[in-house]
Amino acid sequence: MSAYPQALASVRDLQPQQIQKIIEQAFHFKRSGFAASPSLEVHPSAIVLLAFFEPSTRTRTSFEIAAHRVGIKPVTFAADDSTSLKKGESLHETLANLLAMGPNLLVCRHGGDVRVAETLRASQIPWINAGDGQGEHPTQALLDAMTVVEKLGDVEGQRIVYVGDVAHSRVARSGLALFEMMGAEVAVAAPTQWVPEDKAWAKAKKFGSLREAAEWATVCIGLRVQKERHAKAHGADHTIQSHDFRLDKKNLMPLRAEAIIMHPGPFVAGEDLSEEILSDSRCAIHDQVTNGVYIRASVMSGMLAQAVRAGGRI
Ligand code: NCD
Repeated sequence: MSAYPQALASVRDLQPQQIQKIIEQAFHFKRSGFAASPSLEVHPSAIVLLAFFEPSTRTRTSFEIAAHRVGIKPVTFAADDSTSLKKGESLHETLANLLAMGPNLLVCRHGGDVRVAETLRASQIPWINAGDGQGEHPTQALLDAMTVVEKLGDVEGQRIVYVGDVAHSRVARSGLALFEMMGAEVAVAAPTQWVPEDKAWAKAKKFGSLREAAEWATVCIGLRVQKERHAKAHGADHTIQSHDFRLDKKNLMPLRAEAIIMHPGPFVAGEDLSEEILSDSRCAIHDQVTNGVYIRASVMSGMLAQAVRAGGRI
């Protein structure tokens, strides 16, 4: 078994030993201040192309900083009015052109475009999914798992609840798969219209109130109300409903003292999270962001080193 997959499209592309290795390497980077491991030598000219066709703050910047920390040169393409997308070029043709420039690694975020997904599948270089519509967000799940390990010692045996707009969340979908693989129980606390209906969630416990969920959970993960993914039909009443599932002092009253509170960001203050939570000693939201840099450094340097060992050209 190779240590890293050729494509990290889903957390299901990872074997349990690979997950452990990625997280261990991330902790090594964190403890040592990015000291290189001999098996992860990065070629000084290696380039990672970050192709972002959807908005991003944490994920994109975190990949960029991680690349600089481990000696990979990042080149960022962010779809905006200054690119030829504005002139009518398609997303997949844009991506094909970026790939034709010869980067050594690709990180891509897109809104679930089928032709972009096909172009990614045909890629000759290793690539990482940084979010694909409502699909997956594997490096977010890995950094969330690292944060749980750091704060609580282990993922195994934890009771993890995703709160709010779970139905539209790629973060929760990847988290569910990863946390279950690592031996945690995963649950949902959401208003009826945001309880996910797909098979993956079938056996997850469902809580009709955040207070009930908070009594049960050791890890509580809030989610943004993802309005851009809502069908018009149930767009109108989500703000009112979300207040019952907002991470705030009142709703989290029953949460045990040794539990942790997480959120992948971005949060909308007052809507899915009340800012009073940021000063709660159980809040690990900024730790997640910090750990994201180490996880991405681990995944990128591992995949790149492996591609070079397998004969990939720089
Ligand atoms: C999320 C995303 O874009 O998938 N954020 C992130 O990457 N940390 C969640 C969201 O948009 O609500």
